[in-house]
Amino acid sequence: MNVPNHIAIILDGNGRWAKAKGMPRSYGHVKGCANLEKICDHIKDVGVKYLTVYAFSTENWKRSKEEVEGLMKLFRSYLKKCMKSAKKNNMRVKIIGDITAFDEDIQQSIIELEEYSKDFDSIYFQIALNYGSRDEIKRAVRKLAKDVENGELKPEEIEESTIESYLDTAGIPDPDLLIRTSGEQRLSNYLLWQLAYTEFYFTDVAWPDFGKKELIEAIEKYNGRDRRYGGVKEDTNV
Ligand code: FPP
Repeated sequence: MNVPNHIAIILDGNGRWAKAKGMPRSYGHVKGCANLEKICDHIKDVGVKYLTVYAFSTENWKRSKEEVEGLMKLFRSYLKKCMKSAKKNNMRVKIIGDITAFDEDIQQSIIELEEYSKDFDSIYFQIALNYGSRDEIKRAVRKLAKDVENGELKPEEIEESTIESYLDTAGIPDPDLLIRTSGEQRLSNYLLWQLAYTEFYFTDVAWPDFGKKELIEAIEKYNGRDRRYGGVKEDTNV
């Protein structure tokens, strides 16, 4: 099986999953969070090197105060637990998104986790928190414009690789496979630049139920595809 080097996942459906069980949305997030811990083990087992998950978008602040507070509580405990998981899986963890919007203690936990895991190198795990692709591009363009203003580079020196190097995901290979759980088929402002040539996989399975079996199914589907980058693929059978 040809395993994708980088998988990106939109973790969707916690709320609906909980509702279907007659439980509050917060219960879905707790189960979704527990599943996130497991997926890192599965990723390692199947040999995927990079994983990027969408855990909280720039739009998610619009949810009820109660739901946002519940998610912040989960982030607090998860960021601490993630240290153990990082060590166990020899996994480097990086947060993408604008973390300045979070309370000071959450920002501090993020810095500690990134620092603690910076030399682990079996898996590279990116968690998108207060992330929106347009916001990421806006922040990148502002920084780049400042560097032009300061004379550090000229407009005609800006290449695609220059833009890439200003994004939160600088230096990380683009995802090969995007998975979105729970039936919706849209990008929701996720990794718009990085997903330019990525294969998409949508499943009706809600995030809390997405386990190793479902991951392997997604990879098998990906294997059956004929990946193209705009050119005509050589016929290797001839
Ligand atoms: C979308 O499902 C999911 C979220 C907005 C939050 C994702 C959070 C987790 C998986 C758990 C916590 C993550 C970390 C990093 C600790 P939804 O709630 O919008 O589901 P719905 O579409 O069914 O309403």
